[in-house]
Amino acid sequence: MKKKRLASAAMNPPESEVTNVTLHPLSDEKDIGMFAVLTINRPDKLNALNTEVMDALKAVCQWMDQADDVRVLVVAGAPPLPPPEGKRSKPHAFVAGADITEFVGADSHHIRTKFSDNAVEALWKLGKPTIAMVDGFALGGGCEVACSCDVRIASDRSTFGTPEINLGLIPGYGATQRLERLVGYGKAHEMIMTGDMIAADEAHRIGLVNHVVKPDDLEAFVFAMARRIGSKSSHALKVGKRTVRAALDLGLTEGVGVEAEAFASLFDSEDKDIGVQAFLDRSEPEWKHG
Ligand code: COA
Repeated sequence: MKKKRLASAAMNPPESEVTNVTLHPLSDEKDIGMFAVLTINRPDKLNALNTEVMDALKAVCQWMDQADDVRVLVVAGAPPLPPPEGKRSKPHAFVAGADITEFVGADSHHIRTKFSDNAVEALWKLGKPTIAMVDGFALGGGCEVACSCDVRIASDRSTFGTPEINLGLIPGYGATQRLERLVGYGKAHEMIMTGDMIAADEAHRIGLVNHVVKPDDLEAFVFAMARRIGSKSSHALKVGKRTVRAALDLGLTEGVGVEAEAFASLFDSEDKDIGVQAFLDRSEPEWKHG
């Protein structure tokens, strides 16, 4: 994988033991910016979200907000390491949930502090497009990280679920709300109440994932989409994301009003002039992203 450094060292992604960020050009021909791939890297624990991962994830979101040249974030889980001799390989995982070992002895005060303003919310609040690249288990907090991204692409060996009920719990990183918005009230209840896992095809059928592809095709598929999205006006993308999100909180009439204002506001942007002129000239728009 080609790794690129940003021109300004200050804008290089934060490094950590449990996450890895690589930068990739949006175009091979022109310098139009980059997309970032954030890999959660605890494959021996199926990339479970411990405190270290959550802190690192939050730091990456803060960095993404500032890194102007980085236009799209892809979130992935590290693949399994080769097993020690005589041992079975660990399964593929996007993220198998919050790290359950950190629940031992935890009380409500501890969890309130830990879960308030958490990294999954930081990912959700990011103004830039986000894609979950899911290969393997996306359970509990893993399903919720995926639900906090704008688009979910899964390999056909992936499995989704909210098994917290098996621990005497319910989801705590937003699945009761964001999963519900994706799959609907009845299916969200079923998933949260049974804790059952569903295969990628079923996840696709119910609207939890956008596309299902073969494991070998996953990266190319996601990267092509990241490049496609990242090559658009980042200003229009930001306004579009904010406006679609408004649909989650507002009624139809109010939401259409928000869209009308957002649409109108783009007519004062440089990128609208650039995009419209490029169409008339039959040329490629060179966005100012403003
Ligand atoms: N938290 C902490 N550790 C986890 C974990 C989690 N959520 N999910 C998996 N792991 C660890 C296992 O403890 C194991 O560690 P070890 O090898 O040091 O013992 C390792 O990851 C591999 O998992 P294992 O259970 O051996 O793999 P499996 O193929 O038998 O089963 C799962 C895979 C996903 C079905 C199983 O790991 C599981 O149910 N995980 C928990 C899922 C969950 O409840 N998530 C919601 C948490 S709120």
